[in-house]
Amino acid sequence: MPHQGPGFLENQELQLILFGGKGGSGKTTFAAATAIYRAQSSKNKKILAVSTDPAHSLGDSFGVFIGDELIPVNGIENLWGLEINAPKLLEDFKQRHEKAIKKLADRGTYFDQQDIADFFSLSLPGLDEVMAIIEIANILKNGQYDLIILDTAPTGHTINLLALPEQMEKWIKVFDLMQEKHRYMGTHFTGRRYVKDDADEFIEMMTRDIGRVKNLLMDKKITEFVPVTIPEPMSIYETERLLAVLKDYKISVKSIIANRVIIDEGVDCPSCLSRIREKEKYIREMERSSLFIISLKCLYSLPKLGG
Ligand SMILES: Nc1ncnc2c1ncn2[C@@H]1O[C@H](COP(=O)(O)OP(=O)(O)OP(=O)(O)O)[C@@H](O)[C@H]1O
Ligand SMILES: [Mg+2]
Repeated sequence: MPHQGPGFLENQELQLILFGGKGGSGKTTFAAATAIYRAQSSKNKKILAVSTDPAHSLGDSFGVFIGDELIPVNGIENLWGLEINAPKLLEDFKQRHEKAIKKLADRGTYFDQQDIADFFSLSLPGLDEVMAIIEIANILKNGQYDLIILDTAPTGHTINLLALPEQMEKWIKVFDLMQEKHRYMGTHFTGRRYVKDDADEFIEMMTRDIGRVKNLLMDKKITEFVPVTIPEPMSIYETERLLAVLKDYKISVKSIIANRVIIDEGVDCPSCLSRIREKEKYIREMERSSLFIISLKCLYSLPKLGG
């Protein structure tokens, strides 16, 4: 396969690039490297590198401290970093909307569904990450940044994150039905015009936010997901599962990064050669698996920032 640069490095229309894959595959390294490349190659664009992984290491990759507030990355004037504290966002969300959610739960007593109960407990796996992606969609909407590069948590979290908006959209429709009954009773028995309350506002806000996230993730023009894998069986199988989920949710994948590829440059030690052959075997397997592969030479160092 010819070595040509992946499209996400050059495509100026992109607004969101997500890096995802198995733990330790190189997501953070490639997110950071892409952010630096894009910032340096388009000086007139504002780039934001964001991590949603609870075990943040984006700052370490840049060699700077990044916290849950937007911060400029030293040494590159058009690059910023943010490590989102997703559990804290979820906690804030719960506190802000507790009353409206309680109202909805009370009005929905005729719905005896476990998944609705799950929503009201706000403890679903992936919900904190949904809060993070809502935050990202809002940052993009506000237009402060031209491009967000997202370093995600390992695959399991990412799959939850991708599945949940769809699920939430269904629940929100159910909430709206519950509210409709309440609205009807309110107007039918009092004869007065219905006045919206905080439960209605909550439904409207969630409809808007989840809709925005779905539109963003599914917009092939502006969003691209880049799976990062390594030429080893477990990583390949996990990538295949991730690709299937991305396909289901209609999220664009144009490049896959095969990291930690070792290239035969005249090595003559037998054990190195056998490792190289082993990796080559799995690269062939990935190619046969109809995945579009960019084989990268090992990256041993990234530009050091911040002195
Ligand atoms: N091509 C490479 N050559 C050498 N070392 C690499 C390469 N890619 C990544 N590494 C190193 O491997 C380790 C894991 O990489 P990285 O943190 O980017 O993976 P990750 O997918 O983000 O991991 P996690 O799932 O834990 O967040 C890091 O120490 C990184 O510096
Ligand atoms: Mg990482």
